[in-house]
Amino acid sequence: MGTLIKDGKVVSAQATTLADVLIEGEKIARVAPGIGAAGHAVVDAAGMLVLPGGIDVHTHLDMPFGGTVSTDDYEWGTRAAAIGGTTTVIDFALQSMGHPMTEAFRTWRAKAEGKACIDYALHMAVTDLGPDDEWLDEVDAMVAEGITSFKIFMAYPNVLMVNDATIFKLMQRTAKLGALVCVHAENGTVIDVVVQQALATGNTGPLYHALTRPVEAEAEAVHRVVAISEIAGGASVYIVHVSCEESMREVAAARARGLHVTGETCPQYLLLSLEDHMGKPGFEDAKFVFTPPLREKKNQAPLWQALKDNVLQVVSTDHCPFRFADQKTLGLGNFTRIPNGAPGIENRMQLILHHGVNAGRISLERFVELTAEAPARIFGMYPRKGVVAAGSDADIVLWDPSAKYTITAAGQSMNTDYSIFEGFAVKGNARQVLSRGECIVDGGKFVGRVGRGRYLRREVAGQ
Ligand code: URP
Ligand code: ZN
Ligand code: ZN
Repeated sequence: MGTLIKDGKVVSAQATTLADVLIEGEKIARVAPGIGAAGHAVVDAAGMLVLPGGIDVHTHLDMPFGGTVSTDDYEWGTRAAAIGGTTTVIDFALQSMGHPMTEAFRTWRAKAEGKACIDYALHMAVTDLGPDDEWLDEVDAMVAEGITSFKIFMAYPNVLMVNDATIFKLMQRTAKLGALVCVHAENGTVIDVVVQQALATGNTGPLYHALTRPVEAEAEAVHRVVAISEIAGGASVYIVHVSCEESMREVAAARARGLHVTGETCPQYLLLSLEDHMGKPGFEDAKFVFTPPLREKKNQAPLWQALKDNVLQVVSTDHCPFRFADQKTLGLGNFTRIPNGAPGIENRMQLILHHGVNAGRISLERFVELTAEAPARIFGMYPRKGVVAAGSDADIVLWDPSAKYTITAAGQSMNTDYSIFEGFAVKGNARQVLSRGECIVDGGKFVGRVGRGRYLRREVAGQ
């Protein structure tokens, strides 16, 4: 006996079709109109969209950062993800300087063990190749473990930043292996000087986090890292959290030249702005201190257009939550001590469907591509994940397009005391979420077992 999802509109990146979906065990067995119901448990999906489970490729769960630790561990974070219609995350294992990557791999697997509510994969954030580059060989070992993407930070000097030589050596290796390098692109050393100058002149409030990180610093870093990837033999590059038109144009230029460059943006850069959310008296702006910072509103339309035109391929969240009450306040009187990051893992699907599809900026099919199919393809999980098709994992969201929902901190499932989208009203929400055939969310409630999520070994994907 299987589970038959009957009469829903099945959405893929290519088309929306009225069809039934038969699930047997953890997999989708058939997608076709008019599948006979005899012998199956039937789920009535009339009027519902049947979407592939969302894939969020940029999360920071249980991550030590800024003198504290992000508040969503794997249980809190992946449960909130599921409630919002996301069934897979790729989180960052963070190599500590002076320690091998294998240690970070073990540490992050242990963080997830017994807690992950949905399937998860890992990127390896590389901070140190070792005194004689001896840890460069670990890149091969990581790929063998299913970590086929590596993250580098061009920002956060003395914490996470690597220099151009390290980037170059890493890219020479990943180019050989077909692995991907994800890049936080900002010129960290220049920003650091601007930051010290701001502090020295008494500009210590949260607004100065944004004002000391100009768009040019982001665009310059995108340009530089693309050039390094070319010198390294055409390494594949994925630019994370593109926040402004200037850096988006660098991605566009690289792609126009046929380079293997892809990129993402996040709901905060599409929907929030410097004008609307920063510069108020007091310390409330600290809620919006993340990196890159909020940009001027004029950047939003070009970013939406870039999503539509496939200049950017993915919407992720960069979920990195801290409480306002006792974590953001570490930076009272000095914005550099405000932990950088914000919650968002729960709201990505609602916000992008409402402000993208309902608002006429992107099609429903493009929404599925941005939130599920392209992430699966770029990060080596397709067609196991990212599509409702025979043979794929039965990660499925029954989406009610007429459900009305208002985002509030009080109503959220993330472990934080605020929402950057407080009061945002959306039309459309996840009604039921299935992960590998099991219903884990019903009517907004998590009904699965904590710890059921599995580690996903990914393939090298190429482009
Ligand atoms: O502010 C942010 N984005 N915090 C998480 C770390 C990063 O840069 O992605
Ligand atoms: Zn970043
Ligand atoms: Zn991040």
